[in-house]
Amino acid sequence: MIRLRVPASSANMGAGFDTLGIALGLYNRMEIEEISAGVEIINQNTQSFVPRDKNNLIYRAMLYLFDNVGYRPRGYRIIQNSRIPMTRGLGSSSACIIGGMLAANIISGRTLSYSEIIHLASKMEGHPDNVGPALYGGFCVSLTDRNETIVKSTKINENIKFAVIIPDFFVATKKSRGVLPSKVNFCDAVYNIGHASMFQAAMLSGDMRALRLGVNDRLHQQYRKNYVEGMEDIFEKTYLLGSNATYLSGSGPTILSVLSGNYERFRRGMSEYFREESLRWKCMILPIDNVGAVVSIQ
Ligand code: HSE
Repeated sequence: MIRLRVPASSANMGAGFDTLGIALGLYNRMEIEEISAGVEIINQNTQSFVPRDKNNLIYRAMLYLFDNVGYRPRGYRIIQNSRIPMTRGLGSSSACIIGGMLAANIISGRTLSYSEIIHLASKMEGHPDNVGPALYGGFCVSLTDRNETIVKSTKINENIKFAVIIPDFFVATKKSRGVLPSKVNFCDAVYNIGHASMFQAAMLSGDMRALRLGVNDRLHQQYRKNYVEGMEDIFEKTYLLGSNATYLSGSGPTILSVLSGNYERFRRGMSEYFREESLRWKCMILPIDNVGAVVSIQ
């Protein structure tokens, strides 16, 4: 049996659309084994819905890899226990894809390297910024160019924590990508190159003042805010409570704030704000995951 633990992730991080991402200390734990025939899916977390047939994403990711390496699939038993909220912009699908592909790689004889797996995972997901951190952990810069996906992962000081602000509604990534324009203004593109680069430099050097500016984006958040009622007010509140940088996590609707201290005060402040405004959002403080996917064979 193969045991896996794959972290949640938060992509874009403001201006780094489809490029920047971070792994978070919240996990999808899976146990996968080959059986003679059929698909058996056991979901141990009753809070979340997961397909228990061939539509299961972990299973589909396994088939994707098998097909690529020419392995003839047999039957599979997949047990999953995921704490990552689904369709909230926290990389739940990427965690399933990475888990399924890592297991399938072992079952089929470990023919693919991590660089090859990440490329397949990025192709299946459609962008590399969640699968990168899910596999490698840390703060990741990822890109796919023609037939290659490159991920550069850096461990980040654990004093930096992430306030994950999750609403009680969800937005599918497909819908949230559908509202984006097919062309962008040249000045906006230049703006985002500068800001994403500065965000990266600030994360690596720990310069929180530069992070505050570097997080600003002109490529996607302005189009997506219509799906996230109250987004601008929540952003403002996070800065009043000491956030260093606040952005829409992935395609939303979760909002994420980067904190360098006063974590509990921030969490309590946000919870109070939601109570006063009668909003059904919740705020969790998560550490970075600097390890990435962990695999063991029993
Ligand atoms: N970069 C992707 C997007 C992340 O913004 O659509 C999806 O989680």
